[in-house]
Parts: sequence; C-alpha cells; structure tokens
Amino acid sequence: MKSCTAVAPSSTANLGPGYDVFGLALDALQDRVKITKLKGSDGRITMKMSDGSIPAKAESNSAGLVVIKMAQDYGIKDSLHIEVKKGVPAGYGMGSSAASAAAAAVALKALYRLKIGRDRLVEYAAEGEVASAGAKHYDNVSASVLGGFIVSSMVDGTARFIRIEPPRDLAMVVAVPAMPVPARKTEVARSVLPKEVPLKSAVQNVSGASTIVAGCALGDVEMMASGIRDAIVEPARKHLIPGYDGVKENALAAGALAVAISGAGPSMIAFLKGNKGAKKVAAAMAAGFRDAGLGCRTLACGPSKGAHVV
Ligand code: HSE
Repeated sequence: MKSCTAVAPSSTANLGPGYDVFGLALDALQDRVKITKLKGSDGRITMKMSDGSIPAKAESNSAGLVVIKMAQDYGIKDSLHIEVKKGVPAGYGMGSSAASAAAAAVALKALYRLKIGRDRLVEYAAEGEVASAGAKHYDNVSASVLGGFIVSSMVDGTARFIRIEPPRDLAMVVAVPAMPVPARKTEVARSVLPKEVPLKSAVQNVSGASTIVAGCALGDVEMMASGIRDAIVEPARKHLIPGYDGVKENALAAGALAVAISGAGPSMIAFLKGNKGAKKVAAAMAAGFRDAGLGCRTLACGPSKGAHVV
C-alpha cells in the first residue's frame, strides 16, 4: 500500500458533568486524512490542509503530531505526506483537532499494518490534543477513534476507554455560533476553571455523571439526559458564550431533555428523545443566539461509529 485514507467523526465532550472523561461521537461532520508514502527515507513529514485555517506544519498540527509520534515509536523512516480535509470546524467544541488526530492514527496504523490495541491507538490520537489544548485529554479523541459513548477511565493513572453503545433514540442538535474564537481556544477555556471545587458541587457532578452512564448503559435516554447538569465547569465558562442562558432556556422550552456546552464551547448541544423535535429545538437555539446578536449554524445529529479506513 502506498497511501491510506481514513475518516473520523466530530464529537462532543463533557456532556455536562463528565469533564475530560465523557465523549460522544456525532454523525454530523467528519475529517478525512490521507497519508502517502513518498520516495525517500529521510523521515520527513509534510502536510497539506484543505483550508488554511490551522497550522500546516506537522509539529503544530494534531494529525501531524500523531504521525510523528507513531513513526518514532515504530521506526518508520519513510518520508510521509499527510493531507487533511477538514469537515469539522476548528475551535467550536466539536472535537475538530481530535477528528484529524483520530483519522491520522487509524490511517497510519492501516498503512503500515501496525499491531496496536484500541486503547493504545486512542493514546496516540491524544498526542494530537497537545497541539490545540496544550494538554493531553482523551474525551474527544476516544469518541472519535472508537465511536459511540466513551468513558475515559484514568483510575490509578492507567488509561482505559470504555465504550457504551448509546440509546437508540438518542438525538442531538448542535448549535455553532458565528463568533470569532481565539487561536488556542481550548487552552483559554481551561484557564478559567476553578482549581478547587466545593464538595457539594463535586457530589452533584458525580451524581449526574453516574446517572448519565447508567442511562446510557440501560438504553434509557431520559435517564441519561437527566444527569446532564454541571455544577462546576459550565458555571465558570458560560460567560465565554454570549447567549448561553437564552439558548439553554429556549431549547428546554422547545422540548430538549438537556442542554450543555459542547466540549470547551462555544457550541451548545441539546439532547432529545428521538429526532422528531429536532427542527423546533434547532430554531429555538438559533433564536437564543440571535437574541445575543449572533448568527448560528445548527446541526441535527445522532451518535456515530468511530474512525475507519475508506
Ligand atoms: N474536556 C475538554 C474541555 C474538551 O472541556 O476542556 C475540550 O476539547
């Protein structure tokens, strides 16, 4: 094989109380990564982006970082060219850097027929998050690599990615506000978070997170959504999203079961039972952003399978 192409889905992280732990793959948008072996064996890694919006230098791009690390670990000396076709908008809380990283990891694994277990593959994909977030976190990449709902378990420092098939009638609407975002948005959104939290808030979030996992495992979308309440991260971040309260209130009034910031924002995500009410919820969320002076794009979606070769 001379080249290999993989696609990886967008994702939403946190789902309220599951900061850095919960991820859910979305069938809304995807990134496509093609890796080609070039003539020569100087280990040079070059990149081309489909748009000019994010760094095209391998060392500062999430897909590039993944390939560099995997090539080092597996002794790959070929010169490689990476082409990234972005479908997931960068900086809006839909796991854009994670989608490129996940597709790159899956494409390189297939190109060299590497024997890598799924947990290790997620670890490699997470190398790419350093490029955008300044820190390795697994919630978006694990969902983008594996699909479905993922609990990134870090008990005693060992990373394990537990996949649960989401309820069949889980539907979502993502509202992506038309606002400029800083270059290192995730880093900025992480810098506003408290270093310590009141015990009461921690208890509320553990309760919510446990309810989400139980609802997901039992296939009960209403139970799952009832846990999507965050007493720690969203209160600290909501000032970064003009219209946060209005979007949330509107979506709930229009029939959404729960609303959260999607990842580090500024997109907001509503959770529904079935997709019948999605249009109404989308219009309500758009009206919320409009009241705050912002346009927005809405995407009705469901859970997605993970990254795969095409
Ligand atoms: N869990 C991360 C955060 C997701 O909220 O900062 C960002 O991609």
